[in-house]
Amino acid sequence: MKLADFVTEAQSRLDHIFRHYLIEQTHSAAKLQESMAYAVLNGGKRIRPLLVYLTGYALDAIWENMDPAASAVELIHVYSLIHDDLPAMDNSDLRRGKPTCHKIYGDAIAILAGDTLQSLAFEILATHSTTLNPKQRLNMIQKLSLASGIHGMAAGQALDLSGMTTLESLTQMYQLKTGALLTASVLLGAIAANNENPQLLTALETFAKNIGLAFQIQDDLLDIEGTVQLTGKPQGIDLVNEKITYPSLIGIDKSRQAIQTLFKEALGAIECLGPKGQLLHDFANYLLQRQK
Ligand code: IPE
Ligand code: IPE
Ligand code: MG
Ligand code: MG
Ligand code: MG
Repeated sequence: MKLADFVTEAQSRLDHIFRHYLIEQTHSAAKLQESMAYAVLNGGKRIRPLLVYLTGYALDAIWENMDPAASAVELIHVYSLIHDDLPAMDNSDLRRGKPTCHKIYGDAIAILAGDTLQSLAFEILATHSTTLNPKQRLNMIQKLSLASGIHGMAAGQALDLSGMTTLESLTQMYQLKTGALLTASVLLGAIAANNENPQLLTALETFAKNIGLAFQIQDDLLDIEGTVQLTGKPQGIDLVNEKITYPSLIGIDKSRQAIQTLFKEALGAIECLGPKGQLLHDFANYLLQRQK
């Protein structure tokens, strides 16, 4: 299979699942439901679910058993974006080329949309129909909850607000706010395949941690150099918010070098997957080149 065909298949599965939970099911809190659908069904790159599907595929998981993890990681991610854009955080008006959730629905509904997407992620992991055994489901719930809260993304977002001033503390903050969820995505793919080989899991973790850190440094560079047309986000918002970032701390050239080094390390780590890891390898190369 080619990467482009794989991505099309994955995106169509996700679309189907998200439509089921966010459009076809109707709930009494109509505005809340509408705001959730608005934020989810608006053309994100779906990097985290693709990491679930590509890792699982490399380890022979079946699509059905990867669906809950793939949708759950994206729902947590979208929740984090809605809250990240709020006036109390990054105060951003544009996301994925459209007005941010709070610009359309107001801050209060946007806060609730984020909260409710988080709950929905765990609802789907716990209940969506699959042939996963209870231990696999519990393991997924554990990994995703650890990656989302005080041990992961939310902690990173809190540290981001306080401004990290050394490269070491900045790196740790990036690993929490962005790396943790990307790492969980890869590990959830392995759980979907019921693969518990410790060496393999360590290799996947090394892969994901390096990609995760590189991904946030790329995001910082795109904030400086990327056009609104490509990124769908306001250009230069980190400077406006006086954020300390990799480029602001070590400069653009050194940031670019760091990305190259991190990707090299990441690709080296998944060589152990052999030919089955080819699509994951191709996807990492696509990430390395990304312009949005
Ligand atoms: C943006 O993530 C936020 C970061 C953690 C850097 P993405 O670049 O994956 O955003 P979408 O999902 O494609 O909108
Ligand atoms: C976001 O970092 C990380 C999250 C966990 C949401 P940024 O604040 O740089 O992400 P963007 O640039 O708004 O997408
Ligand atoms: Mg932010
Ligand atoms: Mg932001
Ligand atoms: Mg950014």
